[in-house]
Amino acid sequence: MKLELEHTYSFVGKDAVKAYQTKITETYETVYAKKGAGNDFLGWVGLPSEIDESLITDIEKTALELRKKSDLFVVIGIGGSYLGARAVIEALQNHFAPLTGEKPLVVYAGHNMSEDYLKELLAILDKIDYSLAVISKSGTTTEPAIAFRLLKQHLIDKYGEKEAASRIVAITDKAKGALKQLANVKGYKTYIVPDDVGGRFSVLTPVGLLPIAMAGINIRQLIAGAVEIEKMCKSNPTLEGNPVSEYAVVRHFLYGMGKTNEIMVNYEPRLVYFSEWWKQLYGESHGKEHKGIFPASVTFSTDLHSMGQYIQDGIRNLFETVISVENSNHELRIPMEADDLDQLNYIAGKRISEVNHKAELGTMLAHEDGGVPVIRIVIPEVSAYVLGQLIYFFEMACALSGYLLEVNPFDQPGVEAYKKNMFALLGKKGYEEQTAVLNRRLGI
Ligand code: PA5
Repeated sequence: MKLELEHTYSFVGKDAVKAYQTKITETYETVYAKKGAGNDFLGWVGLPSEIDESLITDIEKTALELRKKSDLFVVIGIGGSYLGARAVIEALQNHFAPLTGEKPLVVYAGHNMSEDYLKELLAILDKIDYSLAVISKSGTTTEPAIAFRLLKQHLIDKYGEKEAASRIVAITDKAKGALKQLANVKGYKTYIVPDDVGGRFSVLTPVGLLPIAMAGINIRQLIAGAVEIEKMCKSNPTLEGNPVSEYAVVRHFLYGMGKTNEIMVNYEPRLVYFSEWWKQLYGESHGKEHKGIFPASVTFSTDLHSMGQYIQDGIRNLFETVISVENSNHELRIPMEADDLDQLNYIAGKRISEVNHKAELGTMLAHEDGGVPVIRIVIPEVSAYVLGQLIYFFEMACALSGYLLEVNPFDQPGVEAYKKNMFALLGKKGYEEQTAVLNRRLGI
């Protein structure tokens, strides 16, 4: 992977970025020496190279066993407990996976509280052999807990207690939380989310690895890609020749210039969920104390016909980070037509990817002209190895950016506000005072 910044340096002076050399090396030191805010959540830093071989083998074995008896695998989790897995799976599976007949298909639950979604899922589960992973570090999150209660009962009704238990994997804290107690009582296969790895940094733990292995993806390749970037950062915690540092510093500079919105751009729809993963990572890590870049995402050229107008001409508080994919997995050329009624013969014979690349370059220059700096991250292809590289790249850059912003990148105190109100409105014990206040505000 390569980081291309020429089109950003016309907005941010190269020398200004270079002046951050000492600062960035000190910031790495804060991470590695565990001296900064949230330092008890830095387990992800050495994780790629420290993953136990026995854990990888165990995950592969569990996946193999469950794959044999499952046409569908349901991943129950929310936020960091499902987005990493979904990002990798959707990036690597066929765009039309549900129609290819390849099994098992991975689907998701517990990331919403939609009655319709869950009812329709249960109707499908009536007709199909399935197993599931219930993933919650805290073991108490409402959305996955509701989905698990429903699906657990469904499994028991369908297969009986014993077989149902053999189709459930619980991924949670080693001791705390309702899910851990339940898993102990019912004898589910269990994997541990390490104490020092927060949800949004947990894709290279069983949280991400089991669902990814269930999708038939080589988790060793994913880990190997992450190891490469882990080692690169460790051996070169500078700005020179380290794209992670450069990305962190450049986006920090852009933020200082009033570019308070970063748009993750892809030209490959298979990367949509990678952007979703990135948005959670950056949004939850940096959006606090009334600070932080707002992370957004678009898929081009699709969204050039919707959001393109705003990006070109709207409020100039935007910059883009483009994931540019050099090589497609397949080859397809535009056919020649004798009558050329659609006037496309000028590109006949060209690969679709060539047209897509020209759209990408043309858009970059147009947006630059419109006052939108464009950072480019060029990857050779979308593969498990490259996704592993990108995961570690963005995780480390997220930690560095958070420390440059002077926030704790590893907590998420703001997430509690909606939960407290929801519990109060649902009449949960202990929230009586809040219930009365909220009911008054709502005129109930
Ligand atoms: O990054 C985080 O910590 C959060 O997004 C969590 O992953 C999310 O809230 C789910 O939490 P849990 O795994 O405890 O159910």
